[in-house]
Amino acid sequence: MTGAGETQTTFVRVAHRRDVFKGPATIVRAGRYEVAIFDVGGELRAYENCCPHQGGPIGEGVVEGETVTCPWHAWSFDLRDGKMTLGDFAALRRFEVRVEGDAICVSTEPVNQS
Ligand code: FES
Repeated sequence: MTGAGETQTTFVRVAHRRDVFKGPATIVRAGRYEVAIFDVGGELRAYENCCPHQGGPIGEGVVEGETVTCPWHAWSFDLRDGKMTLGDFAALRRFEVRVEGDAICVSTEPVNQS
């Protein structure tokens, strides 16, 4: 139950567990957003597939450990929280992600508006 002023997170099924992670990220559609799902040391993280610099496809970036580097101009982000690694002025839009049986589900709206 949610109280006054609280909103309930809505999730949508976006992929089967066996269909993901054949590249740096799995790109899916969640509501009105394109979302990139990353496996970060066995934990799933989901971010809008849109770099905050100029909209590059962050899901096609280079993943090294817990960092992804945008393929367009090399801005890098920490995949644990989506924050830029070299400054505090930009972050990826993060989505909640959870596994329900074999289904991967993502929230239909980001949890931050960076
Ligand atoms: S669009 Fe990602 S670094 Fe420029």
